[in-house]
Amino acid sequence: MTADRSAIADHLFADETKLVLKLAAEAELSGGDKSEVERLARGLVKSVRDNRTSQGGIDAFMQQFSLSSEEGVVLMCLAEALLRIPDAETADLLISDKLGDRDWSDHVGKSDSLFVNASAWGLMLTGKIVELGRGTKSDAKSALKRLITRSGEPIIRTAMKQAMRIMGKQFVLGRTIKEALDTSEPLKAEGYRFSYDMLGESAMTRGDAARYLKAYEKAVDAIGATARPGSIFEQPSISVKLSALHPRYEEKNKAESLNGLYSMVLALAVQARGYNAGLTIDAEEVARLDISLELFERLAAAPELKGWDGLGLAVQAYGRRAKPALQFLADVAQRTGRVLPVRLVKGAYWDTEIKRAQEGGFETYPVFTRKASTDVSYLACARFMLSRRDVFFPQFATHNAHSVAAISVMAGEDRRFEFQRLHGMGEALYDGVVGKGDINQSCRIYAPVGSHEDLLAYLVRRLLENGANTSFVNRLADDTAPIDDIIADPVAEVRSLASIPHARIVPPQRLFADRRNSKGVPTWHGPLRETLMASIVQHASRSHEAFAIVDGKPLASGHERKIVSPHDNSVAVGSVREVADADIARALTLAVEGQRSWCDLKGRARAVILDSAADLYETNRDMLLALLIREAGKSLDNAQADLREAVDFLRYYAVLARGEFENPTVMPGPTGERNELSLHGRGVFAAIAPWNFPLAIFTGQVAAALASGNA
Ligand code: FAD
Ligand code: 2OP
Repeated sequence: MTADRSAIADHLFADETKLVLKLAAEAELSGGDKSEVERLARGLVKSVRDNRTSQGGIDAFMQQFSLSSEEGVVLMCLAEALLRIPDAETADLLISDKLGDRDWSDHVGKSDSLFVNASAWGLMLTGKIVELGRGTKSDAKSALKRLITRSGEPIIRTAMKQAMRIMGKQFVLGRTIKEALDTSEPLKAEGYRFSYDMLGESAMTRGDAARYLKAYEKAVDAIGATARPGSIFEQPSISVKLSALHPRYEEKNKAESLNGLYSMVLALAVQARGYNAGLTIDAEEVARLDISLELFERLAAAPELKGWDGLGLAVQAYGRRAKPALQFLADVAQRTGRVLPVRLVKGAYWDTEIKRAQEGGFETYPVFTRKASTDVSYLACARFMLSRRDVFFPQFATHNAHSVAAISVMAGEDRRFEFQRLHGMGEALYDGVVGKGDINQSCRIYAPVGSHEDLLAYLVRRLLENGANTSFVNRLADDTAPIDDIIADPVAEVRSLASIPHARIVPPQRLFADRRNSKGVPTWHGPLRETLMASIVQHASRSHEAFAIVDGKPLASGHERKIVSPHDNSVAVGSVREVADADIARALTLAVEGQRSWCDLKGRARAVILDSAADLYETNRDMLLALLIREAGKSLDNAQADLREAVDFLRYYAVLARGEFENPTVMPGPTGERNELSLHGRGVFAAIAPWNFPLAIFTGQVAAALASGNA
């Protein structure tokens, strides 16, 4: 029997205001506890700041190139892209495009750190060299400049990659598991525990997945050899990303991927158990939450793992489903008679989740839109986990002094929990926590292991985390940020807000200022996909008849052709009546005659018609999706993308019709001239629907022609 996940499903798009206020009530501390949290948090921050001799490495770099500066964003783009671009030519184009017109000289000498200054100098020179190559065409001087550009970019490329590698080193404990285990020894002596993460995620092929699995297997043997008898919660562990082990680990491929993953993770867990080492499943994109919980439930029930408390997983507090997910896990633990080590994180994929929800046209976001909302959720979840230590061994992964202090106070006398930090982050903070101070609690270091080829995604998440100006680590490093602000109580903060949802992170359907975004359904969400499919199926038996309409009247004559589904020719979709040549000629004549009156309607009136066409597409969504699936052989996601693009085209051209096409005199001709013809559109347009986007591209072509006054 499986535990009920409906409460989790219900929270996917829960109202942020109501949910956060409820979580705030759960997270709230008594007056005395609040003062104690403030005292502890202040002490931690002060001690980090007082003991810092000078900023070096990543902190200084991030202060100088903060993500709120244009240069910081450019660097992020480069970091994100450079390691991924396979050919030198494209990499050079990107460098020239991104670095060319910025003024890096502003950053030179602004920091004490050698690392920062070297980078700033490098970037400044880079900018200068790339700039020289711009806008030059004929004379000898420009030929020389072009030469500099050509020899410049490969050098820059090499230098940039080297810089990324240096940054990567900050976050990776070792290139091999052996190197990592050796490096961890002195820290273990200080009282730290370790969870090793073999870098690698989102396998694209079975080959990649097999390579990652091998790396995990080897790592478990090596880590296992360092485990000792005694409580499993004090032993080293391995952190596993499921997306590394299966190239199609996704809801749509649930049955197959779950079976494959079940046997792989079970084998790894059995291997770890043999050594008395732990295994934790990392949390990845929210689209994978449900499927990972299902897998986890099956693993928890595996007879091979009965009585073993080494199987754990991570839960992301920024997800609106976090609390019900923990309740589900408590239920799983209880029913399988185990204590689960659960790592509570805030979540590392926030930017991705926001963008994906916007791109997908969802009704809202599956994550919170305010940092303080996530902080509150984190504390409410922490309190729940601490209250259920019969079923959880809580592991709090955070570099935030307020979160650390609040959890320590909430835990009280019972110290059965641990903190966790990432390698390369939070060292100074936990120096004041592990084995000493008022908090005096154990901490585990999450230690990535691997080479730079597999580092990229992880590195980008760390750069985002360090660079975001709302991030605790970023503000801690910024000596001008007042302590009171950075240790502020998030419960009080959310209660004081005029609006809990972030005013500038508008709902995905309101993404564009001038038009509505097309609505979309997250098909990775089981219950929403099933509801959608049930409705699509209702339309699947309908037979469609396609025919021409000329002069407002359907044409009943013409040769009839049966249409069948391309993926299954026995499925009849309907029929189409071909139009005779004479009817085409008649339609053209009518169109030529009618075009002037359509154009005379003016842009605004045409926009109303285009907008209502968009609305009709959305109202008839499921019928159109059924048709796209059956007639064009599209998958559900491709069908949805086709339909949404069509809707977006209609609204996009409606905006143009209202704006620049409203007054036809401003409409330029093909070479920019404003001739008489442009006053009245161009005439009659014919659109040919391509087979691959039968709805979107057809609609787009027609809508563009109509918007600008053509027939
Ligand atoms: P803070 O600065 O207090 O919080 C930053 C976090 O707040 C952001 O990361 C984001 O989650 C959230 N946030 C920021 N802005 C907003 C906003 N506008 N709206 C809503 N929320 C916002 N992450 C995973 O996803 N999966 C894992 O398995 C995982 N494992 C980890 C293991 C360890 C040991 C550690 C230390 C971290 C792990 N992380 C994982 C990363 C973790 O999610 C981030 O390090 C964490 O969010 C940073 O939180 P903080 O308390 O240190 O910092
Ligand atoms: C990440 O990979 C630490 O799991 C977290 O970003």
